[in-house]
Amino acid sequence: MAGTITITISRSIRNLFFLIVATILLITFYRSATSTSGSSFSTSYLLPSSWQSAETTSGGLTIPEEITNLASGERELAIKQYEYASNMGSYFDPNPHWGGGREDYKFYSDVQLRKLAVCTATNTCRENQTSVIILGYIHAHFHIYEGYMGGEGIWTSYLVQTLEKWGYTILHARDDWPYIWYLYNQIPDLVKGVIAWRTGQYGTFDDKVKTHGRGNGVPAWKFFVYNYFPDHYTSIVGDAWNMHSEFGYSKKQRNFTFIPYVVEPATTPPYTPATTRPYQVYILAKFVRYFYPGAQPAWEDRGIFLRAKTILEKEFPGFEFVVGCKDDRNAAQQKEVPMEVPEGVRNLGKMDRLEFESQLANSRAMLGIGWPTLSPSPHVALSLGIPFINPYSMNGWSKKDDPESWAQSQHHTLKVLDPPYNYNVLRNNETEFIDAIRQALLHPIEPFILPTMTREYHEKQIAEWLHTDWRSKAEEILELRRKGIETQNGKDVKDFTL
Ligand SMILES: *[C@@H]1O[C@H](CO)[C@@H](O)[C@H](O)[C@H]1NC(C)=O
Ligand SMILES: *[C@@H]1O[C@H](CO)[C@@H](O)[C@H](O)[C@H]1NC(C)=O
Ligand SMILES: *[C@@H]1O[C@H](CO)[C@@H](O)[C@H](O)[C@H]1NC(C)=O
Repeated sequence: MAGTITITISRSIRNLFFLIVATILLITFYRSATSTSGSSFSTSYLLPSSWQSAETTSGGLTIPEEITNLASGERELAIKQYEYASNMGSYFDPNPHWGGGREDYKFYSDVQLRKLAVCTATNTCRENQTSVIILGYIHAHFHIYEGYMGGEGIWTSYLVQTLEKWGYTILHARDDWPYIWYLYNQIPDLVKGVIAWRTGQYGTFDDKVKTHGRGNGVPAWKFFVYNYFPDHYTSIVGDAWNMHSEFGYSKKQRNFTFIPYVVEPATTPPYTPATTRPYQVYILAKFVRYFYPGAQPAWEDRGIFLRAKTILEKEFPGFEFVVGCKDDRNAAQQKEVPMEVPEGVRNLGKMDRLEFESQLANSRAMLGIGWPTLSPSPHVALSLGIPFINPYSMNGWSKKDDPESWAQSQHHTLKVLDPPYNYNVLRNNETEFIDAIRQALLHPIEPFILPTMTREYHEKQIAEWLHTDWRSKAEEILELRRKGIETQNGKDVKDFTL
């Protein structure tokens, strides 16, 4: 009897929960539908309208392509779920004209919550659907809603691709901590992880973290501080709650959570064997200011390019430096300090990713000029069979053969690779500059991908992150911390509430 009553009560609580969710959705839909401002999207697969992209039909319903492509068990669940969801169609516009704008991330998350409500109520959730990841770092927002394709954008695209392939639910939260908190509190047990920064435009983690006095805060152990670069110790819990996208290099094992983006194997096109390419050296620089003081260029004397070309074209017929860059400064700045691509370098202009890759694939070496650091492009170059020339600088006490002792280098991951894959060159040293180019042209390589940048490794790392019992780990760290034994390296680590 007691059991029956409990079930009845918990059912009505659940119904109440869905009623609340539905009401919130209805309000937000209405708000979204009334807001109008333009926005562009890089990836159509992330849009709510993907519900609508058609292929197969079932009972008069058109089933979206991403559902028909699922493995059979998952497909049956997904089709049933889709049929149930379609019952809501006349109440919730499945494809409203909401026009994007500042609330776009909330709109997207509402749709995902609605899917969760349908599948939990009808027992049609896919295998990983009730495991929820909240994306709350601004670069994810820029990538998803504005097409940002810098390192963090590329990382986001692979993370999302993998989680979606496995059927996880992803919620978008811009960098909006009050909204992260609001999402979390609707489905606290379903949220497996929040990937964000500690700060944001509308509030901070510190305002929303679970504490003794704030029981409905987001538990610190569910929060992973994201930074593309592998140098930050900003989690209050411990090292592994710092998540990053580039491996970097350190002799000392650091216990961050490393999730790489994927470097894809070369395909034809754009891949052509090195020996059939012209003697073309591709300079990594999106903006012309990277050649000028302010960007701390590796080659401060811009005459180096023409001098090197004059020497190298005698040894390698048709030798050329090429670059694809533009001047991204405003008109006044451009007038005040005119900047040009150095003499001896041919500018291919601004290119999209595909054009960039096909130009790169037509080169025999990629040359770093100091900036950007730890970029994905040298990895892409290697995958196309193109060695990287990596400028570095030393401290007074640095040893040439010990990269860890160096002051700085453009690519902290690749600096530990030897020729013929990577050539470390001392900044401003013209002898080493010319010689590295010469060696790279004389020693073509086959396509190469670091084992830590393959799709397999990327998936392995994500799966490991998803399957780790973070609460237990945090609990152990916390117990020791409260006894005065600190096992973590971060300066920001402190007491927290489980
Ligand atoms: C569920 O996620 C795991 C990784 O956590 C993955 O290995 C598995 O294939 C996913 N299930 C489905 C049906 O995609
Ligand atoms: C990383 O974790 C291992 C195993 O717990 C530990 O021995 C090592 O000292 C940790 N590394 C750092 C830098 O704390
Ligand atoms: C430049 O590099 C060459 C070869 O490594 C070295 O012999 C020379 O001393 C370097 N010049 C300077 C100014 O560091």
